[in-house]
Amino acid sequence: MKICVLPGDGIGPEIMAEAVRVLQALELRCELSEALLGGCAVDATGDPYPQETQRLAQQADAVLLGAVGGPQWDGLPRGQRPERGLLAIRQDLGLFANLRPAILYPELANASTLKSEVVAGLDILIVRELTGDIYFGQPRGIETRDIDGRQERFAFNTMHYSESEIRRILRVAFEAAGRRNGKLCSVDKMNVLETTQLWRDVANETAADYPDVELSHMLVDNAAMQLVRNPRQFDVIVTGNMFGDILSDEAAMLTGSIGMLPSASLDANGKGLYEPCHGSAPDIAGRGLANPLATILSAAMMLRYTFALEDAALRIENAVKKVLAQGCRTADIHEPGMQELTTRAMGDAVLAAL
Ligand code: IPM
Ligand code: MG
Repeated sequence: MKICVLPGDGIGPEIMAEAVRVLQALELRCELSEALLGGCAVDATGDPYPQETQRLAQQADAVLLGAVGGPQWDGLPRGQRPERGLLAIRQDLGLFANLRPAILYPELANASTLKSEVVAGLDILIVRELTGDIYFGQPRGIETRDIDGRQERFAFNTMHYSESEIRRILRVAFEAAGRRNGKLCSVDKMNVLETTQLWRDVANETAADYPDVELSHMLVDNAAMQLVRNPRQFDVIVTGNMFGDILSDEAAMLTGSIGMLPSASLDANGKGLYEPCHGSAPDIAGRGLANPLATILSAAMMLRYTFALEDAALRIENAVKKVLAQGCRTADIHEPGMQELTTRAMGDAVLAAL
């Protein structure tokens, strides 16, 4: 098992150290390599996704990522921004299927800003297409143009999807729904956008191959509303890159504890990049305050999806549930009367539970 570890920026190195300790404690036969991605890579090489990182990531079976970005890189040209590193590795490795679970842990029910009767027991999976859409569409740019005889700045991006790009992400979503409650909601904007008209047509065609899954459709604005009105109506949601970016942040926040949520980005052959849903949190970096659980749970997803080690994945997930039940909390999920732990102490607690 070759795993490429990319700690990244901000709190990335701190949370990654705990996830790596958890992996080592399982005594699996894995070979870890470490490389730079994001702002740290820009500082060291000028490139957010350097060649050495590319080489190690391509050779590995899975990539475990902390987080990238921070205000010190805000002024850089677009091609050198840390986020470019993330977009580049997704594209380079063909990681088109992004799985973002939003699960409410019963111990953390009060962390949500929504009433507990609305979110109790919430367990949604967002399947987001990750290598197409307006994120990568050409042409794109900012330039000066002549508009009605005046020179003006003009910016443009292109939204496009091919039938095969849509079909492959829908298959992932139908299969995921088949393993869960058999309900799939496809989110689009077919009343306005041609790309999503095609999306809806392909979804309906693909449904014929999955008779056990009930497919529904929802427009994205309504989906944003329904997610806060009655989130438990959803089981699996599938959508494009841009809508998925927005809806997955919304879904994560329903749980009130984005520091708990892992994600997987998979290619067509089971290779994957695993990362927490949260960002690099530069404001608390280096202070031992960050919650390592999302990264630890991302390592569990890696064992499940890339290495088919369901038992080892469950061991990690059960250890996390156990420490929550014991009252262990980092600052982000802290409640009165609970033990407030540092990043390292939370890692220790998970190791003890393991
Ligand atoms: C995410 C992030 C990225 C995205 C950014 C950092 C490029 O928001 O993973 O959701 O937009 O995909
Ligand atoms: Mg996002």
